Parts: sequence; structure tokens; C-alpha cells
Amino acid sequence: PPARGLVVVVDGPSGSGKSTLCRRTAAALGAGYLDTGAYYRAVCWAALEDGVDLAAAAAASSTPGGRDHGSDEAVASLARGLDLRVGTDPERPYVIVRGTDVTAAIRESRISAAVSAVATNLEVRAELIARQRAAIAVQAAERGVVAEGRDLTTVVAPDAAVRVLVVVDEQRRLARRALELHGTSDEAAVERTRDEVVRRDRDDSTVASFTEAADGVAVLDNSGTLEEGVEALLALAAAALPAH
Ligand code: DC
Repeated sequence: PPARGLVVVVDGPSGSGKSTLCRRTAAALGAGYLDTGAYYRAVCWAALEDGVDLAAAAAASSTPGGRDHGSDEAVASLARGLDLRVGTDPERPYVIVRGTDVTAAIRESRISAAVSAVATNLEVRAELIARQRAAIAVQAAERGVVAEGRDLTTVVAPDAAVRVLVVVDEQRRLARRALELHGTSDEAAVERTRDEVVRRDRDDSTVASFTEAADGVAVLDNSGTLEEGVEALLALAAAALPAH
């Protein structure tokens, strides 16, 4: 495979369009694709299934320095033992938890609302980061990989050949999120979405800074069309590919 050995990592906020961008780019490269957010969503799904009180954890974690240590420890131990498989085919990503296909379920709003309680848990992060690094290494060796998340350029894979931060025009991002959440991007839906997006950004930014590019990280403006974004990411990837 032409991209064998290549590691492309992409960070960016929710609604930046980075998932579609990364999947399309991976497909064009013949590379694997890894959605690291799916790991956090999967743990959240399992915690809710087990009846862990994530609401208590979320309430505690939204007060500065506050954590609910009981549920934190329960979620961390759940994460360490979790039977989780994350697909790497960019044409057909899937997530399987304990033998159940949760690909669609982990996108539900009950998960989006609760997931930051999981993502801010440092012991959960340590476990999931280790798993993500292993998956990236396997894909890279086989066919190259395009991986997306929040902390990949800085924490998970700071040595990746291609490190990219996706930014997008704020109005564009709100419209995208409104469409995802409410099925429409009319003015009222965008307004309803604004609070949610501000809150998500605030929760997410406690674990990783993804609004400013770290040293050596390229900034990709994804405000244009999907094709323009893919072309820009492919150009960054091509510059890092070994010449044939
Ligand atoms: O990208 P997403 O909405 O699927 O991410 C789900 C949650 O996981 C969100 O709270 C951000 C968090 N996340 C993270 O902390 N680190 C990553 N590498 C990816 C996602």
C-alpha cells in the first residue's frame, strides 16, 4: 500500500467536519481510519448500560477541581476491562462493545451529553490513549493511517509525520452542529445550538487544547467544500510520503 508507514493525525473541535474529512482522505490514500472520540463514546455507553452515575460525575466535574471519585474509579476500571473493538475501514467505521454493535447508539444525544464526564477522567484517558496508540501503530504498519481526535497532535501521537489542526468558520460550525442535532440549520436551530456548542467546547478544552496549533502542527481551514478540505489534507500527506 502506497501510504504504508504514514501516520496522519488530525485534531479539531466538534462540528469542524473533521470526521468526514479524515474518512475521505484515508479512503483516497488507501489508509486506515481511526476515530478516537468513538473510544470515549463507547466507554460512556458502557458506563450508562452498567448504571454508573455519570450525572454525578458530570455535575462534580463542571465545578472547578470537582470530581466524583466513586464514579470516576468505577468508570476507570470499566474502561480498563472493556471489550471494545473500533473498526478502521474508512468506508465502514463501526464500534462494537461487549459484542453489541453500538456504531449508531454512541451518536445519540444522551451520549454526547454525558461523554465529557468520561473524557475528563484521567485514568480513563490513560487507558484509551494506550489503546489508540496500539491501533495507530497496527494500521500504520499495514497501510498507513489517518486518525482524528482532540489530543492526537499533542499527546497520543506527537511524533506523527503529519499533524494537523482543523479550524472552521464559527458560523459554519454552528450550522453543521445544528444540522446534526436538530436536523435543520435555520436561524432558530443555530441559536439553540450555540449554547450547546459553547458548553461542549468548554468541557472538551479541559482535557486538551485544540483551538491553538502546537509547534509543528499545520492549520487546515475547513470552511470551504469537502473536496477542498480533502485536497488540502492530501497535499500535507503527500509531502510526507516517501518518494516512490
Ligand atoms: O469527537 P467526538 O465528539 O466523538 O468526541 C467525543 C468526546 O471525547 C468529546 O467529549 C471529546 C472527547 N475526546 C477526547 O477527549 N480526546 C480525543 N482524542 C477524542 C475525543
